[in-house]
Amino acid sequence: RHNVTTEEYLQALAYLTEVGRRDEMILLGDVMHLSIAIDDQTHKDQVGTATNVEGPFYLPDNPVLDPPYRLCSFDEPGLPLVISGRVTDKSSGRPVEDAVLDLWQASADGFYEQQKPERGPHYLRGKVPVDSDGRFEFRTIVPASYEIPKAGPVGRLLTYLGRHAFRANHIHVKLDADGFKPLTTQIFFSDNEWLGSDTVGAVKDDLVVELIEETDEVRAKELEVRSPFFTTSFDISLQRH
Ligand code: BEZ
Ligand code: FE
Repeated sequence: RHNVTTEEYLQALAYLTEVGRRDEMILLGDVMHLSIAIDDQTHKDQVGTATNVEGPFYLPDNPVLDPPYRLCSFDEPGLPLVISGRVTDKSSGRPVEDAVLDLWQASADGFYEQQKPERGPHYLRGKVPVDSDGRFEFRTIVPASYEIPKAGPVGRLLTYLGRHAFRANHIHVKLDADGFKPLTTQIFFSDNEWLGSDTVGAVKDDLVVELIEETDEVRAKELEVRSPFFTTSFDISLQRH
C-alpha cells in the first residue's frame, strides 16, 4: 500500500535492529500507542475500573505499609497529596474488604526508585490495604510529569515525528483481591498539560481525578501532612472472576 522500496525496507529493518539491540522494543510499542491498544484489546470484556499499561518501573517487592499509610516521608519534596477511595465489587456494589493497593510513582522531580537508587529502598512505592468497608487512604506527593528515555532510537523517532516524550503525571496501581480479576491501572490529574498528548497515549477520562488544594492547618496535622496540601478521591470497582 505504501510502495515501499528495497532501500526503505532495509532502513526500516536496520532501525528495528537498533531498537532491539538497545532493548527499546517495548518502548517503541509504548510510543506507537500499541501497548495501550493491546491492553484495551486484552481487557475489552472486563467491567469496572479501566485498565492501563504497567510500564517498566513496577517492582514486585513492594512492602505492605503500616498506618498512617505513606509512600514517602513527611519531608519528601513536592506538593503533599492525600488520596482516598473505596474498592467495590462492580456487580453488587459491596466493599471488597481484602483488597490491597500496590502503588508506585515518580517523584516531584520525575524519577522512579530505579533511576535514583541513592534515595533508598521502597522509594515512593508500597502496598496499602483497604479497611472492612473497602476504604483506603494514603499520603504521598504529587508526581511530576516525566520524559520517557529519549537518548536512543525511540527518542530519535519521536523527534522525526515532531512529538514530545512526556507522560502526563500519574500514579500506578495494581490491585489483587480473592475472587476478582486483577487490575493494573494509573491515576491521572486533571490540571496536567500533557493529558491530551501523553507520549504513550494512555490517558483515559475515567482515570483522571481533580486535585483539591487544602489550607486548613488543623486538618493537615490530623492527616500528618505538610500544609498546604492536596486531596483527591479515586474509587475502584473490580470484576468477579
Ligand atoms: C510508565 O508509566 O512508567 C511508563 C510507561 C511506558 C513507558 C515508559 C514509562
Ligand atoms: Fe509511570
